[in-house]
Amino acid sequence: MEERIYIFDTTLRDGEQSPGCSLNLEEKVRMARQLEQLRVDVIEAGFPIASVGDFEVHLIARTIEHCTVAALCRTVKGDIDRAWEAIQHAKKPRIHTFIATSDIHLTHKLKKTREQALTDAVWAIKHAKSLCSEVEFSCEDASRSNIDFLCTIVAAAIDAGASIINLPDTVGYAVPDEYGAMFRVIRERVPAARNVILSSHCHNDFGLAVANSLAAVRNGVRQIECTINGIGERAGNAALEEIVMALRTRKEMLGVDTNINAKEIYKSSKLLSTLTGMQVQRNKAIVGANAFAHEAGIHQDGMLKSRITYEIMTPQSVGIKHSTLVLGKHSGRHALKQRYGELGYNLSIEELEQAYRTFCTIADQKKDIFDEDLIAIVEDRESAAEGLYHLENIQVLSGTNLRPTATVELRLRDDRFVDSATGDGPVDAAYKAIERITGVIGKLTEYSIKSVTFGHDAIGEVFVRVDFDGVLFNGRAVSTDVITGSAKAYLEALNRAINAKKRREGQQSSPNQQTVTV
Ligand code: KIV
Ligand code: ZN
Repeated sequence: MEERIYIFDTTLRDGEQSPGCSLNLEEKVRMARQLEQLRVDVIEAGFPIASVGDFEVHLIARTIEHCTVAALCRTVKGDIDRAWEAIQHAKKPRIHTFIATSDIHLTHKLKKTREQALTDAVWAIKHAKSLCSEVEFSCEDASRSNIDFLCTIVAAAIDAGASIINLPDTVGYAVPDEYGAMFRVIRERVPAARNVILSSHCHNDFGLAVANSLAAVRNGVRQIECTINGIGERAGNAALEEIVMALRTRKEMLGVDTNINAKEIYKSSKLLSTLTGMQVQRNKAIVGANAFAHEAGIHQDGMLKSRITYEIMTPQSVGIKHSTLVLGKHSGRHALKQRYGELGYNLSIEELEQAYRTFCTIADQKKDIFDEDLIAIVEDRESAAEGLYHLENIQVLSGTNLRPTATVELRLRDDRFVDSATGDGPVDAAYKAIERITGVIGKLTEYSIKSVTFGHDAIGEVFVRVDFDGVLFNGRAVSTDVITGSAKAYLEALNRAINAKKRREGQQSSPNQQTVTV
């Protein structure tokens, strides 16, 4: 039997706080549910004192059934109390408190002595422990901290009641031998450290986050902190999928395993990319588009003879289903339901009906429907569900010597609005027409389009990031028509902005089409 490694997922805290990765409340809850499907052990849901949005971790805490839900806080009373408020209703709550321990941070950031940091840590852990039975303590910038002081503070933290001790490589500075050695020394010099769970938390500034995490495991660490797709501050955190698959595939070397349901890895990665709009690079390990592609002739020849020549794990083992030509114009609801089931989506009758309607529209425009298309349809449906404005029609006039013009018809519940505008291009014209109808002005900060599958008739996936009054909102949509997709993606961002404004103001009433500004 391999020893168990606990996976502490911080996608929704360390990952989400990095630029371009912010999620709204509904998206966080959806991602948390997916992390539960993936069977991570701990979901770090946020840093409640940091913002109102993060305080909403209490909704994640109430939603999650099986995983521990952790909230981060500094070693300050207000932070700790707020963290506890946010997670107290979780089935398995954990307070995660931290203070920097390196002289660099103590001198330049906290302006505290080591002794003060020690006193703060002990007080904070005792206070956290009086509220919550499980307390994790982190020494921020541990890898650049004085090892004697680290031993002292770790011993004191355990004595104060912390049962998980995390020693982060906060700035991604350590190399594997060095990071592993830090844990070895702690275990040698702090006898009580053998009775708690030691944890690694690595950033990827040298691209060593996963290697460092594995070195930590070899030196007694039993919890790894990581994120889906490795998102996180600067170059990111250690990537969950890489750690899990390395441990599983190389069990004979590392002698440990996780409880992760690896078949949910690909879906988790895709969901995060869809929600944040941050795609992984093609050659990203485990979840990149090329991760299981064999291009070189000699490799293809080997693969045909025996897959083990060049394949160390199968795409199926991480939940990648080969894109098979599945459905077409004549496929019925039953076939669609069955295929969605195989892809891991259990749709209700209404959801299936809605997906089927979109499927039929697309099947009229596109001969072959692939798994990726089906996923795009269902993800699109899910993100559109919160919508206020709905695109009814769009017509554009564009050409080499024409001033691009768009006429847009939007529906807001039972009301319909039509307006036209010209622009630099057809997308610009469409966005201006939407602005004229809604009265909401947004600044497009990011726009990207990619084809979901292949062929001239492939579905295009549009991703936009729009600045509404200084706050960024993401929008995503799929369509065989890129202008329609662009308009729908923009509307999704706009609807999110309106929803966020409503949430902020606690409004119950419907938005007034004339007066909504965000
Ligand atoms: O990188 C880091 O040190 C952290 C801690 C707050 C756990 O994210
Ligand atoms: Zn971190």
